[in-house]
Amino acid sequence: MESGLDHRSARALLEWHMALGADECIQDSPIDRYALPDTAPAVARKAVAPVVAEPQRPQIVPMAQVDTVAEAERAAAGATDLAGLRAALEGFEHCDLKRGARNLVFADGMAGARVMVVGEAPGRDEDLEGRPFVGQAGQLLDRMLAAIGLAREATDREAAVYITNVLPWRPPQNRDPDAGEIAMMRPFLERHIALARPDVLILMGNHACDALLQRKGILRLRGQWAEAVGLPAMPMTHPAYLLRNPAAKREAWADLLAVQARLREGA
Ligand code: URA
Repeated sequence: MESGLDHRSARALLEWHMALGADECIQDSPIDRYALPDTAPAVARKAVAPVVAEPQRPQIVPMAQVDTVAEAERAAAGATDLAGLRAALEGFEHCDLKRGARNLVFADGMAGARVMVVGEAPGRDEDLEGRPFVGQAGQLLDRMLAAIGLAREATDREAAVYITNVLPWRPPQNRDPDAGEIAMMRPFLERHIALARPDVLILMGNHACDALLQRKGILRLRGQWAEAVGLPAMPMTHPAYLLRNPAAKREAWADLLAVQARLREGA
């Protein structure tokens, strides 16, 4: 179809739509809905012609108050292994993010690895693949881990790494997780760590620190050992931040060396 747009403008427009969250083409050719005849109101008027003369009192139906954090705690506590935890998340219906996501993003790497990385939330690539950290930030994460001899494909617990996120479903338009979502998903995350039994945690970015240390301010927290759910935890700047701020890679390298040293000491 001829649009009159040159290829650069067409690409910019497409990228703009993607930034707004459009990730699927639902028809082969676009419809300019502003140019369509305005027929909808007439149809709507016909459809809503009053049938009942008597005015009805609006019914007030009380909303059931669900304590979603308590529900999450119950569901997470009932899981006795990682497959059970995954099933519990698949059956958990209280988080609205689930309805907008294509896939549950549970984890990747080897459960039982000495190192467990906790990121923020899936982005577009992770949502499509159902695996954490597979986009650009994930590729940088893999290179960072490789620099200290760790790989998600490794099968022995010394060299392996296990990766998950605070949120298992993609937030719309990759917005930040909100406090309610973090509180609701925390019981699952804590159970996930307990069942995966790592020696050391790496907390990637502010939201991982918020969820597991109840602290924010990653630029102050990074590089200092903390304790999360009874384990040594190293807060680090998120690989997405490092992609935007390459000068911060020097500090990230120092943090990785601190993790490596701790592992050598026996953690
Ligand atoms: N960023 C994250 O924090 N997690 C992912 O899985 C991908 C990007």
